Amino acid sequence: VIVPLEWRNGSLRFLDQTKLPFEELYIETDEAGVVAEAIKRLAIRGAPLIGIAAAYAVALAGCALQEDDLGIVRERLSRTVDLLASTRPTAVNLFWALKRQQRVCSEWQGNSIDDLRERLIGEARAIHREDAEMCEAISSFGVKLLPSPASLLTHCNTGSLATGGRGTAAGIITKAWELGRLTHVYIDETRPLLQGARLTAWEMKKRNIPATLIVDSTAAFLMQQRKIDAVIVGADRIAMNGDVANKIGTYALAVSAHYHGIPFYVAAPVSTIDARAESGRAIPIEERSRTEVTEVQDRKIAMPEIGVYSPAFDVTPNQLISAVITDRGVARSPFSESFQRLHIGVTRVDEN
Ligand code: MRU
Repeated sequence: VIVPLEWRNGSLRFLDQTKLPFEELYIETDEAGVVAEAIKRLAIRGAPLIGIAAAYAVALAGCALQEDDLGIVRERLSRTVDLLASTRPTAVNLFWALKRQQRVCSEWQGNSIDDLRERLIGEARAIHREDAEMCEAISSFGVKLLPSPASLLTHCNTGSLATGGRGTAAGIITKAWELGRLTHVYIDETRPLLQGARLTAWEMKKRNIPATLIVDSTAAFLMQQRKIDAVIVGADRIAMNGDVANKIGTYALAVSAHYHGIPFYVAAPVSTIDARAESGRAIPIEERSRTEVTEVQDRKIAMPEIGVYSPAFDVTPNQLISAVITDRGVARSPFSESFQRLHIGVTRVDEN
């Protein structure tokens, strides 16, 4: 099993994903700031895992507290929350997990600092465990939608390295394989940081799933050759009208799939759905540094003075999405009604 992060008695041990697939380097820390830095540089990444890591980071900050003074405790923890919230803007799971920890803080009556510490650790563990369960539920709902046997195409990394369990889109792919319903999976390399080539290919290999790596621009050609039965991806934030922000390149895949009449599925836990975002226009898109495009793993590949535009995510309009597979069930267009039927964003507005 792949364990991207683990709580160990007052510290957090995590896999530095920037080193994969050639080195499995674990970092152990008791500092929330180290976790914030790890999220920023994508050592910890993938929407659900970012949320889980942030929740643990708040627990780390709780462990460092010695004061019993309510005001000071709240002040310190809210500074940690702000630091974590400033790491990456797009994945809503980060803000959702931080809100859960903030609620733990505000419900704490100032009885004892040990009590608060235990509560913060308990909440982080719950977020972690619930995410693993959500992955299983998503996989069960998702596998029923796929044609059988299926040849699939996926983008970025949505597996154990991105979640608390076996993954969202990758969880469905794994389940399909276990049930004998998958013939093959094609993996987009996912420029510029190569989450597909470095991480998904590594995970699929570990799971013995027949996989083929392609450069992102090969996808449309594969579809034209009728080699893809369905496209399945994850999400960083889903708006209430079903627009989906996910790794840059997702929108191009959806356009190609639509043109070729191939179903396009998005798999994500309800913690990725932002009840406050009416449409994709409300989703902030992170821009990354120019060197991530002009260099590949520290090797220069372009003139350093060239202008660069590097959004980390794009928004796929809901019209191009066949279904959103959540842990509560499958949503289809019109998504706002479908989400309501699944009780998403109705009773839980302040959770998001
Ligand atoms: O920049 P990253 O690697 O954090 O981007 C990850 C993605 O875009 C994933 O598809 C998404 O977070 C879903 S992970 C289950």
